[in-house]
This record gives sequence, structure tokens and C-alpha cells, in this order.
Amino acid sequence: MKEKLQKIREHAIAEIESSDGLDKLGEVRNAILGKKGELTAVLKGMKDVPPEDRPKVGQWVNETREAIETVLDECTKRLEAEALRRRYEAEKIDVTMPAVMNKKGNLHPITQVCNQLTDIFTSMGFEVYEGTEIETDYYNFTALNTPQDHPARDMQDTFYLSSEYLLRTQTSAGQIHVMEAKKPPIKIISPGKVFRSDDDATHSPMFTQMEGLVVDKGITLCDLKGMLEAFVKRIFGKQVTTRLRPSYFPFTEPSVEVDVSCFQCGGKGCKLCKGTGWIEVLGAGVVNRKVLEGCGIDTDEYSGFAFGIGIERIAMLKYGINNIKLLFESDLRVLDQIDD
Ligand code: PHE
Repeated sequence: MKEKLQKIREHAIAEIESSDGLDKLGEVRNAILGKKGELTAVLKGMKDVPPEDRPKVGQWVNETREAIETVLDECTKRLEAEALRRRYEAEKIDVTMPAVMNKKGNLHPITQVCNQLTDIFTSMGFEVYEGTEIETDYYNFTALNTPQDHPARDMQDTFYLSSEYLLRTQTSAGQIHVMEAKKPPIKIISPGKVFRSDDDATHSPMFTQMEGLVVDKGITLCDLKGMLEAFVKRIFGKQVTTRLRPSYFPFTEPSVEVDVSCFQCGGKGCKLCKGTGWIEVLGAGVVNRKVLEGCGIDTDEYSGFAFGIGIERIAMLKYGINNIKLLFESDLRVLDQIDD
């Protein structure tokens, strides 16, 4: 019996030690210690052992069992550690590898430019007034010194909704609302969409303007020029200067067209400035007395200046876009490139 147990023990230990995985070890454990295992069979056969030998044989069986279990436990621990090590190896992360960047969206170029201009003007003390896209003929034209049959109405091809209502052709309509609602001093900007029946590489039937209006005591064209100088330097760069050219708008007198020195060639002449060294950026002027008076503002005491900036034009100049349609086609290959 002792020999038999010795054989079982040697065989078991050999099997255990040659096991190459936890599954195999489980099988070996079953084959020896399981219900139908070799050692279990010996235990079951105890009834055939003469009673006086049973304590001794029982002790041998127990010793064998303990020896096998000790080796089994050691082996299990070793194989478990090995499995864990292999798992760690397989799941190893190289923390020095560059991360996969999440693609983040950006604001539309028009929104970006609008925000930049708003930041500049609000830092100068301007408040933001948002008008409405549907206006009456009165606010869009008549109150801006452009009565019916005034030739200046031909400057803007208008979408009429009825004989009274229209899609505003200019944010200047907002000037009147502000002056009716508020006493001077007034210092506002008014960004928003405007509409004209106009369509080519640099014009779109819908585009964006930013109006500016300052009304206070002693405001002159010099204040306008000074403010514009500061503004263009912040948007186009410190080296950029302005030039005023005479122009005409019914609601300003005098009226000016504002050019900036070409920020690409520095004024020498290039493709962007069409060889002139100057780029037209906005219309402006001293608010016509008739407009102020129409809003009940005493022109002996107050005067003002106004300006209107085309946002698409600024965006096209800033980002080198040659067709206004690129701003409205929602082509991500274009929009992705513009993120200030
Ligand atoms: N409203 C004018 C336009 O759309 C621009 C402008 C605004 C000119 C304010 C002078 C003063 O062309």
C-alpha cells in the first residue's frame, strides 16, 4: 500500500510540475483528488483494509494528499503569477505615445470675425444692440434721409416683403431705433445679417454687417478717424494705417470710404490691393443733422459719427478668401482651416 501511495504521489507531482497552464492543472487535480481521482479511489478502498492497519494507512493517505496539495498550491500560484504577468505584458500602454486627438469643431469664420470686432469695440466702451432682420421701409430708408424716390435707394437692391416691410439692407436701420430709445451719449455697435439682391464673387444676397454709432457733445470726423486707426491696428496689425476718401451716404455728411494700408505688401502694391497699396474696408461719416433731428436729438448740442463694416469682406481679407460663396457653402475643408 505504501508503495502504491508513493507511486501516486510521484506520478501526481510529475504531472503537476509539467503542467503548462491553470486549465491543465485543474485537470490534474481532478484526476488525483477529484470524485473519481486516483487518491479518492484509495480512500474509498479503506473499507477493505484490515481495521488494525487503518490508522496507519489513513495517515499515509493524508500525508500523500497533503504533499500533493502543497505542490499543487505552489504550482497554482506560480502559474497564476505567470498568467498575470502575461496579461500585464499584453495590456501594456505606452504612455509616451502621442494621444489620438479628438476632433474639435470651430466657430464659423463670420462668427469669429464678428466676435473679434465685438471684443475690440466693447473694449473701447461700445455697447451691443441687436436689431431685427425684418424692418419697415421707414427705419431702413426714410428715417435715414432716404425717402421714397430718393436716388440713393438704387444703391441697394431691396427685397420687399410688402409695401411697408422689407429685409433690412443695412444695419444702419438700428441707428434710428437706438436714437429713438436712448438719449445721448450713445455708443453702440450693431452686428447682424442684411439682405440685398446682389450675387457675384464678392457679393451674396445675405451678408453680415456691423454698424457703429457714436452720438455725444462735440463729436467730429477726427474722432471717427482716431477710433478707426485704433480699430484697424487691432484687427490687421500695428503697422496698418487708414485713409479717408470722400463718398456719399444719405445719412452721413460728410461721408467717407475708409481704406487701410495694404497689410500684405505694406503699401508697395500687390495682388490683394490691386497694386494700389490701399484696401477699402468700410463706409462711414458724420451723422447727417437731418437724421439726428428726426430722432429728436438737439443738433446744436450733439453730433455723431457712424460706420458700417462688411464682416464677410473683413473675413475674406484676413483669411485670403477670394470668393464669398466659400463662406456659405459649409465645406469643412474650407472651414477647418480658419480657426483663430
Ligand atoms: N449702411 C452703409 C452701407 O451699407 C454703410 C454705412 C454705415 C455708411 C454707417 C456710413 C455710416 O453701405
